[in-house]
Amino acid sequence: MDSYAVVGNPVEHSLSPRIHGLFAQQTGETLRYERRLVPLDGFIEAVEMISAGGARGFNVTVPFKTQAHDWVDELDEEARAAGAVNTVMLENGRSLGCNTDGIGLVQDLVRNHRLQLRDKRVLLLGAGGAVLGVVRRLLAENPTRLVIANRTASKALKLAARLAEEYADTGCEITGLGLGEVAGDYDLVINGTSAGLQGRGDLIETSVVRQAVCYDMVYGSNTPFTRWARQAGAVDALNGLGMLVEQAAAAFYLWRGVRPETDRVLAELTSEEPR
Ligand code: ATR
Repeated sequence: MDSYAVVGNPVEHSLSPRIHGLFAQQTGETLRYERRLVPLDGFIEAVEMISAGGARGFNVTVPFKTQAHDWVDELDEEARAAGAVNTVMLENGRSLGCNTDGIGLVQDLVRNHRLQLRDKRVLLLGAGGAVLGVVRRLLAENPTRLVIANRTASKALKLAARLAEEYADTGCEITGLGLGEVAGDYDLVINGTSAGLQGRGDLIETSVVRQAVCYDMVYGSNTPFTRWARQAGAVDALNGLGMLVEQAAAAFYLWRGVRPETDRVLAELTSEEPR
């Protein structure tokens, strides 16, 4: 039986085995998908073993996405640009690193939540790995303005300068600044920081989100950021469960050549979320 895995640390609460199990059931594909808890200093050893064992691919989660990028034999364009890999395809002893996080986020925003990004003002919080994985896909949707705000302002400035050069011909105004400097109105505010892991959701002035839909790339019905956004009076506060399902669907398609229907899986998982 074709086998797959999700590699991470921690990984015990990962929903990926559940999601891929539901996709397999729905599409009639026969496969096995397991969790692999890997020691923080044991990524290479673990993935060498997984590929030697004949697996067809694996997903990579925190904190190994950069190491996966450095390990694979080849990279697709998305993973190369992001410097991070969340999906590995294994074929004939070679590994191809891909990144489906960006497509996952955009699919969730555009398809599931019916939010068009064209001509919209987008504020992206954070400038780390999670943001790098999605920012080019966001720009491909042609927002009119993209502001990247980060606790360490210099990182946001550097990233924004690089993207402004890469996307100069799109007409999108791209700027970077510190979280404390964020002002003005936005249509969409996306949290790509890991501040929620420390229980923090109050990253910017509340006035900034009054006309905005807020989206947390982390999933859970009540993340610190979505809780804060609701209290701040945001138009809506969405979490990243849909992104998780959509990035998994894109990985499933890469591996199996079959596109699962995400609506039913998302509905099932949403109904199980604690309120
Ligand atoms: P990830 O892969 O999850 O993006 P990362 O590359 O370490 O992890 O990036 C974490 C991001 O969350 C960074 O943008 C970080 O800001 P700094 O660059 O200033 O470190 C941001 N972050 C983490 N904790 C935060 C907090 N308490 N408040 C605001 N931003 C925070």
